[in-house]
Amino acid sequence: MALRLGDTAPDFTQESTEGPIHFHDWIGNKWAVLFSHPKDFTPVCTTELGEVSKLKPQFDKRNVKVIGLSVDPLADHKKWAGDIEETQGAKLNFPLLADADRKVSDLYDMIHPNANDTLTVRSVFIIGPDKKVKLIITYPASTGRNFDEILRVIDSLQLTANYKVATPVNWQHGDDCIIVPSMPDAEADKAFPKGYKKVKPYLRITPQPNL
Ligand code: BEZ
Repeated sequence: MALRLGDTAPDFTQESTEGPIHFHDWIGNKWAVLFSHPKDFTPVCTTELGEVSKLKPQFDKRNVKVIGLSVDPLADHKKWAGDIEETQGAKLNFPLLADADRKVSDLYDMIHPNANDTLTVRSVFIIGPDKKVKLIITYPASTGRNFDEILRVIDSLQLTANYKVATPVNWQHGDDCIIVPSMPDAEADKAFPKGYKKVKPYLRITPQPNL
């Protein structure tokens, strides 16, 4: 059955450009982004992996580990890494799983046969330190992802986990947040020392709590 939000992210051991990865051990007590790309030595994928390498300090700052995947063999990943550095001006600085036997792709349902029966689509999974799946997005092969959006979602997820706030439409770092509906006013009065505006009983707006 397909993975859903709140499920435990399937554990696995697989080869990578940084040696064998035991997934849950590798995540440790951090957050993780697992993302697949269709194929090595393809143009859109090359730009994506260069961009994720450039954004690595942003993921580190948020306590997030990043790992890529395709069904290509390790030797191809290693050869392609040179092209990524040469063309994107960024050295590959996170592991790429070599999932030639499709072990991980099948576990995470990353091959969508009606799109392509052999290659992975552009899947993204955000996984929390509790190893639960927090976000799933799927893009087609022809559309490069917006990894700034992935960082934005991580910020939102971490605010919810740490401060019990949700984020409204088009929220960006620094914008006001929304107190989760499950929190009674009496608790919110104590939890948000900067105060909050009660627009409706279910719509309570407060400044971003970690600023
Ligand atoms: C690409 O990365 O450019 C790509 C890969 C598979 C299909 C289409 C584009």
